[in-house]
Amino acid sequence: MTRFVILLPVLLAAAAAQAAPGPAQQAELDAYTGMAKAADPNFGGFSAARGQALFLATSKTARPDTPSCTTCHTTDPTKVGRTRAGKEIGPMALSAKPDRYSVMADTEKWFARNCDSVLMRACTPMEKGDFITFMTGQ
Ligand code: HEC
Repeated sequence: MTRFVILLPVLLAAAAAQAAPGPAQQAELDAYTGMAKAADPNFGGFSAARGQALFLATSKTARPDTPSCTTCHTTDPTKVGRTRAGKEIGPMALSAKPDRYSVMADTEKWFARNCDSVLMRACTPMEKGDFITFMTGQ
């Protein structure tokens, strides 16, 4: 018992240092895994590195005022972003906004809008899963 009491704060501190998807985020990732597998039977899992690249990329096909996800979300996912009209957007990093990626309908709505603005197309299930994998680790 004493050992457990001593160990618990250490475990909690370790969990806080390394952000990871909670059950709600994992449910979204599982849904995107299903869609990615349906699109490509050879799908080999999501990649935080690819998600980061998507986030930071400047699109050549973008609408002129939104060339990148970072146009609104800034290059630092832990920071508050801003719409073109100047309205605040909460941070994208799960560590900075723990309710991120927890309501599938919201996540889908914003992927649809924002991928269309930046890429002039829908994001694929793999891109969505990569993005969430990156952001839930931030
Ligand atoms: C024109 C500004 C703008 C751009 C560019 C933009 N976003 Fe967003 N994004 C928003 C706004 C506004 C919201 C909704 C407010 C919120 O969730 O805090 C949002 C929310 C989201 C969400 C919902 C997160 C959740 O909690 O479920 C995702 C996912 C997202 N954006 C992904 C992207 C990706 C990927 C790109 C680049 C391809 C991108 N965004 C580019 C403005 C933008």
